[in-house]
Amino acid sequence: MSVLVLGSANLDLVYEVERLPAPGETVLARGFTAFPGGKGNNQAIAAARAGADVRFIVALGRDGNGDRLAAEARAAGIGLLDRRVDAPTGTAIVFVDRHAENSIVVDSGANGRLTSLTDAETAAIAAADVLVLQLETPLATVAEAVRATGASTTRVVLNAAPSGPLPPDLLGGVDVLVVNEREAADLAGLPVGTDERSLLAVLTGHGCAAVITLGGEGAVVGVPGEEPAKIPGFHVDAVDTTGAGDTFVGAFAAALVRGADDSLESLVDATGFAVAAAAISVRCKGAVPSIPTLEEVLAFLGER
Ligand code: RIB
Repeated sequence: MSVLVLGSANLDLVYEVERLPAPGETVLARGFTAFPGGKGNNQAIAAARAGADVRFIVALGRDGNGDRLAAEARAAGIGLLDRRVDAPTGTAIVFVDRHAENSIVVDSGANGRLTSLTDAETAAIAAADVLVLQLETPLATVAEAVRATGASTTRVVLNAAPSGPLPPDLLGGVDVLVVNEREAADLAGLPVGTDERSLLAVLTGHGCAAVITLGGEGAVVGVPGEEPAKIPGFHVDAVDTTGAGDTFVGAFAAALVRGADDSLESLVDATGFAVAAAAISVRCKGAVPSIPTLEEVLAFLGER
C-alpha cells in the first residue's frame, strides 16, 4: 500500500494581496507567511495524510530551508529519500488575491539538481504500488523514473504541471495522467476552452487514463475507449487555492493504492475522494497546512 513520490520541494513565500500588481506597479501585501510547498512535497504530504505509506525522492539545499522542509516532511510520516546538493533549496513566490486565486513564480534551485537516480531510488520505485510524478524536476529524471518501473506492477500517475512539452514516448509509460483544464489543452495541442470530452479523447489516445480537474466544478475521468465520467465538485468558501491540485493528486494516489485496478469505476472512486480532499484544502491558507487527513475527508463526505 505504498506511494513513491518523486518531485520538488519549495519554501513558499506567500503574500496576501487585494489584487495582483499590474506591470510597473507596487502593491502592499495584507499579510505574509512562509509555508512548506512544492508540488512534489505537497503531493507526498497529501498522500500520507490520506493514509498511504509514502516515500519521497527529493533534492534539497544544504541550508535552513532544506532542514525545515525535511523536518516537516518527516513529521508528516514520510520516508524521505533526500539528497543535499550545492544549490539553494527551491523557493516559490505566491500571490493570493481576494478571490483566493493564486499566481506563482518558482525558483527551482536544488530541484533542478535531481538529474539522475541512484540504484536504491530505482529499486524503491519498482517496489512501490504507485509512483507519483510532476514536472518541477528535470524531465530526463521524470522519464528515468517511468522507465525504472520496468516490469514491476508499479502504477504511474503523472501530474503534468507546470505544463510543457513532454518527450514523445513518456505518456506510453504513464497509467493515469492528472491535469487541470489549461494543462490538458496544452498537452492536447488544443485551444484553452476546448470541451472536456475532446480533450480526454486526445489524452487517452496515448493509451493512458486521464483525469481533468475542474476546480470547484469537480473533475472528469476518461479511460481509452470508454465514455468519460463526470464527478461533481463541492461548494465551499475558498480562502486560498494554493496546492489544491496537489492535494487532489496526493489523495488520488492514496485512494488508488486502496482501489482494485485502473478500471473506470476504481478511478471514479479515487477521483471522488480526491475532489473532496481538494475542496477541504481551499478553506484555509497555505499549501501544506490546508491538506486534510483521511478522517477529515471521510467526515466531510459523510456530512454530504
Ligand atoms: O502547486 C502549488 C505549488 O506550486 C506551490 O506549493 C509552489 O511551491 C509551486 O511548486
